[in-house]
Amino acid sequence: MTPSEVETIIQRNGSAESSILAILQDIQAREKYLPKDTLEYVSQKMQIPLTRIYRIATFYNALSLIPTGRHKLDVCLGTACHVRGGTKIMEKLERDLKVKMGETTKDQRFTLKSVRCVGCCSLGPVMVVDDEVFGRVTQDKTSGLLKDFK
Ligand code: FES
Repeated sequence: MTPSEVETIIQRNGSAESSILAILQDIQAREKYLPKDTLEYVSQKMQIPLTRIYRIATFYNALSLIPTGRHKLDVCLGTACHVRGGTKIMEKLERDLKVKMGETTKDQRFTLKSVRCVGCCSLGPVMVVDDEVFGRVTQDKTSGLLKDFK
């Protein structure tokens, strides 16, 4: 990400310290993670200590300091989804994608993570790809549901 692209993001969100989370979210959306040199640039430009930025970056689940896949793939392991087979869905995805929970596929297509309840328990087990929620997922359906996410 070039300095001028970072500048644009800062200008769009405002340079007040209270804008830092929105700025980090924009960088994350664009780069799929928060590159160290970009954070250093933001720190210098906004005069916010780098340690404070890192604290925010590591607090929020949606932010990542390591490269992530083009698509976020979250399997709900909250109580309702767990009872309805969420763990089996996670295991199937781990086998199919050849990654463990928390990892990114070699082709950078997906980062597989778990979440704890996305608020539609009656549809469990639930899987979320980017912002699209899939309910009543079965092991047989997972590959078909992922095929449109390139
Ligand atoms: S426990 Fe999965 S959506 Fe609530």
